Amino acid sequence: MIFFIDTAEIEEIKELYNWGIIDGVTTNPSLIAKSGGDQKKIITEIAQIVDGPISAEVIATDYEGMIKEGAELSKIHQNVVIKVPMTVDGLKATYWFNKNKIRTNVTLVFSANQALLAAKNGASYISPFIGRLDDIGQTGMELIKEIKIMFDHYQYSTKILAASIRSTQHAKDVALAGCDVATMPPKIIKQLIKHPLTDIGLEKFLADYKNSL
Ligand code: G3P
Repeated sequence: MIFFIDTAEIEEIKELYNWGIIDGVTTNPSLIAKSGGDQKKIITEIAQIVDGPISAEVIATDYEGMIKEGAELSKIHQNVVIKVPMTVDGLKATYWFNKNKIRTNVTLVFSANQALLAAKNGASYISPFIGRLDDIGQTGMELIKEIKIMFDHYQYSTKILAASIRSTQHAKDVALAGCDVATMPPKIIKQLIKHPLTDIGLEKFLADYKNSL
């Protein structure tokens, strides 16, 4: 499974990119704002660290504005993927970007029908937000399973990019469901490696070895 790190914090990206497991980065306006707000500067810095897809979201909500802004963002680096919201203008912009060979990540996807529309218009990635569905008492993983069935049926090349991942359980579930990509906050990624029995076992190995000297 492809791992993206979901943050705009440069130091966090550097730290986890050095683990070797990070394949790309996703950002959004909230994450950019949290990291200072200068999207062009932040995306440029990330592109110098990570050799993989970097999602940069447009702020414009109208079609003309999205394609203008997205075309500009795509000039930052060849790895930049343009993130657009799952709206009518975002759907139309996805079609334009696809025809102009600019990769897209259609975000704020909360239904299988939305995912289907984005795939039909040539989205490179779609980002279903599983945590936010769970937040309102729905089951985000159900959406992932529905999208997977749909995309397998029609052999869409659009990649399912599971987002709004809030736990290691989510991470495991999306992998078991066969998602192409999971984007996770640094905190979750760091939790993936943890197991108490690993720590206990290593401690015992070292203690036994030390006692044998
Ligand atoms: O990439 C989308 C992600 O940042 C949203 O996560 O936890 O704000 O729903 P969350």
